[in-house]
Formats: sequence, C-alpha cells, structure tokens
Amino acid sequence: MSAVKLGLVGCGGIVQKSHLQGLLSCPEWVRVTAISDVVPENLMHVGTAADVPSNQRYGDYREMLEKADLDAVTIATPHHMHAEHVMTAAEAGVAVISEKPMAMSLEEADQILAAVERAGVSYSVVHNFLFTPGVQTALKGLEGMGKTLYGRAKSLFNKTDDQADPELVWRASKEAGGGCINDSAYHEIYLVENLVGSPVKYVEARVKTVYFDFDVDDLALLLMEHENGAVSTVSTSWCVPGSGGGEMGNLVEVHAKGGGFRVIKRGQDLQRYLREKRKWEAVDLVQFEGVEPEARSRIGHAGYFAATFEALAKGEALPVTGKQARHNLAIIDAARRATEERRAIEVN
Ligand SMILES: NC(=O)c1ccc[n+]([C@@H]2O[C@H](COP(=O)([O-])OP(=O)(O)OC[C@H]3O[C@@H](n4cnc5c(N)ncnc54)[C@H](O)[C@@H]3O)[C@@H](O)[C@H]2O)c1
Repeated sequence: MSAVKLGLVGCGGIVQKSHLQGLLSCPEWVRVTAISDVVPENLMHVGTAADVPSNQRYGDYREMLEKADLDAVTIATPHHMHAEHVMTAAEAGVAVISEKPMAMSLEEADQILAAVERAGVSYSVVHNFLFTPGVQTALKGLEGMGKTLYGRAKSLFNKTDDQADPELVWRASKEAGGGCINDSAYHEIYLVENLVGSPVKYVEARVKTVYFDFDVDDLALLLMEHENGAVSTVSTSWCVPGSGGGEMGNLVEVHAKGGGFRVIKRGQDLQRYLREKRKWEAVDLVQFEGVEPEARSRIGHAGYFAATFEALAKGEALPVTGKQARHNLAIIDAARRATEERRAIEVN
C-alpha cells in the first residue's frame, strides 16, 4: 500500500494555516506531489513548505491535472469555484477532497454527486471539526448516555468589513458564496447534528444581515428538530464577539437522558455534565489515548486528513461522504427558505 499522491488546487489561507500541517503529519498515507494556485506568492510559500519541485508548481490547475502524476486533489478555493474545480478533477479521474461547502446550491451539489459517480472516483468534503479531540471524545461518551434530548451550538465572531482584509476578500460577496451561514455556521450545524446523533428533519430560522454593509448574511439563528425528537439551536454571528473563550465563547453542547457534553472552542476543550451529581466537570483530553497536547491547537484537519487518506490508500469508504455534505447544505438551504417564508421547512 503506497501513500496517496496528492495535488492541491488552491494554496491560500486555510492551506497555509492548517491543511499543510495536517497533510505533512501523515506521510504514510499522503504525499503532496504537485500544487496549483493563480497567485505566485502562494505557490512559492506552499511549494517551499511542502518541498514540491518547481516543475510541479502550476499556475493553472487544469495543466496540473493533465501533467502531474496524481491519485487525488484537495480543493481549497473560494466557494463559487468548488463545483467547477471538483467536476473537472473528477473527470480527470482523481479522487477529490473538497473544502466546505460542497457547492453554492443543491442543484450544483447534485451535479457534483452525479459527476463523481459517473467518473467512479472517491469524493469527500472537509468536516474537520468532527475530528478534533474534544468532539471525538464527546461522540464516544454520548454513546453510553441514552437518548439525546437537546443541543445548542454557537460561534460568535467579530469580523471587520474592511475590504482589504484577506479573510473577507470573497467571503463578503454573495456571488462568491460568502456569508456567515455558509462559511461559519456550516461547522456548528454538522457538529450539533452529529453529537445529537440523529438527522435534522425540520428547520426554523432567521438568516439576516443586521450590521455590515454587504450583500451576505452576518447573523444566522436556527432552530432544528431531529428525527429522534431532539431539538437543537445554532447561533452564529460575524458581528458579536464571543468574548473570553470557555462558556462565553464558541461551544457545542448536547444533553442526553444520562448526562451531557460541552465542546468548547470547536473541540479544543471539553466538559461533561453528570446528571446524578448535577454538576459540570472538565474532561482532561490529554488522558485520552492518542490525543497529544498539541492536537488541541489544531482545528481538526490533521485528524480528518489522516482518516481520509488512510481510507483512500486502503481503498475503503471515506469518513465524510458527499451525501452527508449535501445534507448539511440542505439544512442551510432550508434555513434560508425558513427566513423568507417565516415557517419551518422540512429538510430533503
Ligand atoms: N474547514 C475549515 O475549517 C476552513 C477554514 C477556512 C477556510 N475553509 C475553506 O477553504 C476554502 C478556501 O478558503 P481560504 O480561507 O483558504 O481562502 P483564500 O482566499 O485564503 O484562498 C483561496 C486560494 O484559492 C486560490 N485560487 C483562486 N482561484 C484559483 C484557481 N482557479 N486555481 C487554483 N487556485 C485558485 C487563491 O489564489 C487563493 O490562494 C473555502 O472553501 C473555505 O470555506 C475551511
């Protein structure tokens, strides 16, 4: 079994901040052999960090697909480019690992699923926060706590509307698929759904622009009902800071008959609620096998990539499927419709 030969489509912010660290930490499963980006500085930066020969650094991803010897690509480009990049790569016969969200609409998502099936290639979407130590530990712990009842997730960010901010270049544009529900609440939705352990069936929501002067949403409030009857909420904002971390910061919390878990800062810390003692206690993740202290600082890409490329190398099913990513997008679509129609929408 040999490591997957990987090409990168997009070498920008998230690749430099997190993908590279994850990809380089599992050399037994994946090797970055070619890269592409339209910005020469990004090619240079990532090419140097990943030790990619200069003749394997491409300004045009199509040329990379044509010339490089690849088994798979990652797509880490702005949202409105995902569909084209994923489908072109699939047609070239390589496995595709795409950043979230998979597409701009459910129609595009269905086109992607049809294209990867036609091409017979593996496809997955990065749901990285599922692979943080805190979330993995909570998922295991909830298995013994009985039926889940209630969940809540919040991610509060204090963005700027400075157009020169590289974070906002395309995120503040509707045409590019930006906005806080697509970009940020996306994660809280799959986190709370996975921890509740039951698919979301109905969504009531308000997705609005309340503060910034741009054409994408900066506030998303969702009330979701799951197939098992549990209810959960997601509150995400780009214009209200989650101050101080901990209970005041970003969290996902789920309660079951026997107790609950509170995942803090998207998986870096964890608390357990003991119903019989009526109190919260910190769970020391360092005590858990396989969780090294430095893994807390990662945002889950290392765990996601290790699991995904191990599965690809072994020819096994990938841990996050296109169908699951489409479902997350369907919840977002339902939230937008619920806002417009002021009623609960069934997720299909
Ligand atoms: N999962 C997470 O936690 C997480 C966090 C941040 C970003 N993301 C996702 O990663 C993706 C990229 O976000 P980012 O913050 O890195 O954006 P970014 O703007 O920093 O980087 C995008 C890169 O794509 C490049 N690019 C544009 N057109 C291209 C083309 N035709 N061929 C090759 N490269 C091209 C740009 O030059 C840039 O380097 C988005 O889907 C975003 O939602 C995920």
